[in-house]
Amino acid sequence: MFDIQKVRADFPILSQKVNGKPLVYFDNGATSQKPQVVIDAISKYYSEINANIHRGVHTLSQLATDAYEESRLKIQKHINAQFSHEVLFTAGTTHGINLVANGFASILKPGDEVLVSALEHHSNIVPWQMLCEKTGAILKVIPMNLEGELIQSEYDKLLSDKTKIVTVNHISNALGTINPIREMIAKARKFDAAILIDGAQATPHLKPDVQDLDCDFYVFSGHKICAPTGTGILYGKEAWLNKLPPYQGGGEMIKEVTFEKTTYAELPHKFEAGTPNISGGIVLGVAIDYMNEVGFENIQKQEKMLLEYATKKLLEIQGLKIYGTSSQKTSVVSFNIEGIHPYDIGTIIDKKGIAVRTGHHCAQPIMSFFQIPGTIRASFSFYNTTEEIDLMVDAIKKAQAMLS
Ligand code: ALA
Repeated sequence: MFDIQKVRADFPILSQKVNGKPLVYFDNGATSQKPQVVIDAISKYYSEINANIHRGVHTLSQLATDAYEESRLKIQKHINAQFSHEVLFTAGTTHGINLVANGFASILKPGDEVLVSALEHHSNIVPWQMLCEKTGAILKVIPMNLEGELIQSEYDKLLSDKTKIVTVNHISNALGTINPIREMIAKARKFDAAILIDGAQATPHLKPDVQDLDCDFYVFSGHKICAPTGTGILYGKEAWLNKLPPYQGGGEMIKEVTFEKTTYAELPHKFEAGTPNISGGIVLGVAIDYMNEVGFENIQKQEKMLLEYATKKLLEIQGLKIYGTSSQKTSVVSFNIEGIHPYDIGTIIDKKGIAVRTGHHCAQPIMSFFQIPGTIRASFSFYNTTEEIDLMVDAIKKAQAMLS
């Protein structure tokens, strides 16, 4: 049974007031709020077992190592990876993408092609541009249509034997479009191209099954799924992770070091140089447990209801246009109101305690495509309610009246 009031009570911040008004938090695409169980787990780690991992024989070091590695196993199970050493801890999605892009520098040759999509966040564009500059490879873009969907027939035309890697998000952060990644992965396979999926905006809403998807890499952030910032996961197929060179050199990622030569540790340690975010990695497992306890079916049901309700209510506002109208969408509504700059709406409704994101959402090419400076983005989580949407709609109407 999904009891929304019980779920909301898990998140202390949701009963805060902001600018004297009850907080309405609709910036979940940027980061999620944290349940008490996660907040407590951070404190418990530092109060009871804080020590460095994989290093000491002392009891605390072993307890911390066990907790960290148990979390890796939990995440392996959550995403259905074949091996736990295919699950690398990172600082977040950006880190994971950069790790892979950096590794491909030793693989790509001039004239090879990298396909990105028109729907990407800057973090899934810029690392590949940097890679192409370094290697002489060519960056090609899978275009989108006015609904904010990738044009699959254009993808088909772009794929060729020159394609070495395709990199696409599972869900667009700016528009909420759910991309048909299963089909896109299968198509890339036919050309022997690797494929990376940016799951940053998908993992708050669904449980990816990396074996079933058959992707080579799947990256996501912890902070969007109730865990602390500075946490994330890079899943990579064993064969690829063995093929790619290490990203950073340092402690932990070595087998043997001499001044003549260093040999590298086995997976996953080869990619985990330095002291990691130990408490973050452990607590990411706690956050995933929490999400699974709420249940992804419940999460999806609640969020679908919120998306439908918000879309209907917002479209009642005169001059309001929604960007991203695919039938395959998650609980994100990106919109503008005719004649009003998105920042102005965002600033005025913030005074009423309503948090939305305004601007280009780190996806400037999408804004250029629609020829707009940015949008107002309300991104809903399972702990949001229709009453909160009513408050936002009412606040927008008042802001519109004030600014017109
Ligand atoms: N990528 C995050 C967002 O979409 C920060 O807001």
